[in-house]
Amino acid sequence: MAVDFHCHILPCLDDGSRDAEMSRAMLDEMASQGVSSAVATPHFYPDRFDLGAFLEKRRQSLELLGTVYDPASHPKLYLGAEVAYFHGISHSDRIRSLCVEGTRYMLIEMPFSRWQKDVIEEVVNMEEELGIVPILAHIERYESYQKGSTLPFLIENGVLIQSNASHFLEKKSKKQALSMLKKGKIHLLGSDCHNLTDRRPTLGAAAEELLAAGYGDRLEEMYELGLRLLSDAKPAL
Ligand SMILES: [Fe+2]
Repeated sequence: MAVDFHCHILPCLDDGSRDAEMSRAMLDEMASQGVSSAVATPHFYPDRFDLGAFLEKRRQSLELLGTVYDPASHPKLYLGAEVAYFHGISHSDRIRSLCVEGTRYMLIEMPFSRWQKDVIEEVVNMEEELGIVPILAHIERYESYQKGSTLPFLIENGVLIQSNASHFLEKKSKKQALSMLKKGKIHLLGSDCHNLTDRRPTLGAAAEELLAAGYGDRLEEMYELGLRLLSDAKPAL
């Protein structure tokens, strides 16, 4: 019951899948790796996109995906977004529509720099202000810029952490990924797949790696949490 919490499977929308045929092949690949549920998380950049136009484009992309989607074999698909952090996010009521549909969870792409106090506070305040629980996307991309106390503080305050599958697969990062997982600093896995070449679905390979390293229990915990977060949501496909 593998859950992919971060992927760019929707066609013709962002820098992910180029067309419906590519999406179909990506879904085939995900299914062959045992992925049973996936959250589609196209990029949303608040300074560049109009929210209404984005939601309409996402709807059209989903419709296109529906033409190649096979409910008998493909993973259940949930609609979400990868929302780029912006100043004022914790007071922006309108971004609620970018949560994973039917849930209060939102994937956030954080700044690629050391997060200052105001940024950390905004992320933590999202739950109290908006009732939205942030999930920080691909933590490995910015973890090294942060103070040692930042991640534990965020986690203590209810923020969830997502890691990409590649974090567990690449030689240079694997050790760090396992150490973070062991310390409870990773809660959810995502492939962050964009295509079938350089950023392909690799959740299956990461799962094998975790099993081989003796982290089967942790892997199950991540999948179970993923399913729990989606338990009130209705799949879009
Ligand atoms: Fe992404």
